[in-house]
Amino acid sequence: MDLEVLALRIAHTPADPGVRETRWKDILQGRKRADAEADVAAEVWEKLCGQLPYDVEAAWHAVPEMHALRSATAVNAHERDKVRDLIEELCVDATLADGVVASRKARVAHKLHEESWSYSEIDAVFLFAVLLKLKRIHGHLRKRGTFVDCGSGFGKNAFVAAIAHPWQRIVGIEALDALCLGAEALLERFHDHTLPRLRSKDQGDRDDTDIEFVRGDFLTMDLVLTGTLIYADLTCLNSGQLVAFRALVDEVTHGTVVVTLTRPLLSEKFFLLWQEQAPTSWGHTQAFVWERKPPPPEEDP
Ligand SMILES: C[S@@+](CC[C@H](N)C(=O)[O-])C[C@H]1O[C@@H](n2cnc3c(N)ncnc32)[C@H](O)[C@@H]1O
Repeated sequence: MDLEVLALRIAHTPADPGVRETRWKDILQGRKRADAEADVAAEVWEKLCGQLPYDVEAAWHAVPEMHALRSATAVNAHERDKVRDLIEELCVDATLADGVVASRKARVAHKLHEESWSYSEIDAVFLFAVLLKLKRIHGHLRKRGTFVDCGSGFGKNAFVAAIAHPWQRIVGIEALDALCLGAEALLERFHDHTLPRLRSKDQGDRDDTDIEFVRGDFLTMDLVLTGTLIYADLTCLNSGQLVAFRALVDEVTHGTVVVTLTRPLLSEKFFLLWQEQAPTSWGHTQAFVWERKPPPPEEDP
């Protein structure tokens, strides 16, 4: 598989939401795109229109290697510094330590002793870079879509997502009321302080993004399935909870992206876009980025 050609084709064949079931067939067959013709150099156009070997499974297998070719240059230092600065300023009164204390108090009050209630945070710049890599390397996030954070704590991931992309809707699902209240306080601050610091076009694009924090158990909520990008830190889930999460996200529509932390999804319905080391508040772990496969072609009767 020519990885450079594969990379070009993937980047020029937008995904989610409502992605064509034939997207991967289009990628491998180099379906001609009228809109691309006007603004691509002849050499690139040639690569876009030619054939790649038609084996979807082999292409999915090659995607992480293709990702490695593009990953280092996908997000620049200025973009990373800017998002770090915005999130630090937003969360000045909602630090990691505040989240840990609020979570501990709520767990004591409700006698929630299982490890799955542990509070920690993923590095904001890392998550931001994942979203931009999906957009710039994998053809995702070309339309608005819905971001869902499963176990959203103080909601920082929702705000990172809102800075990275003009989603239609962002939903944080969190069972502990005290953490949801913290996230809702940040939402007000996000509108008053963070949005006005974005470029005016980005502010306009994000004006009507609906950001919401919903109380509940994400393992039992179909709301998760509305996500075109679903994030879940699986580090502390027990085996029963992992099975429940896998069964839930197996139901998402093709083209949906699921990002999991520490634990792979281990579902035949997804293929891996890439995996990489993720910095978190407790140290480094693996992040896995998955795409839901399209349904298999119907058998002839
Ligand atoms: C490790 S923290 C992650 C916080 C945030 N998503 C981040 O990455 O920065 C996990 C959060 O999920 C919440 N949680 C755990 N199990 C849950 C469940 N079944 N339903 C909803 N929230 C849950 C915990 O209360 C905690 O706030």
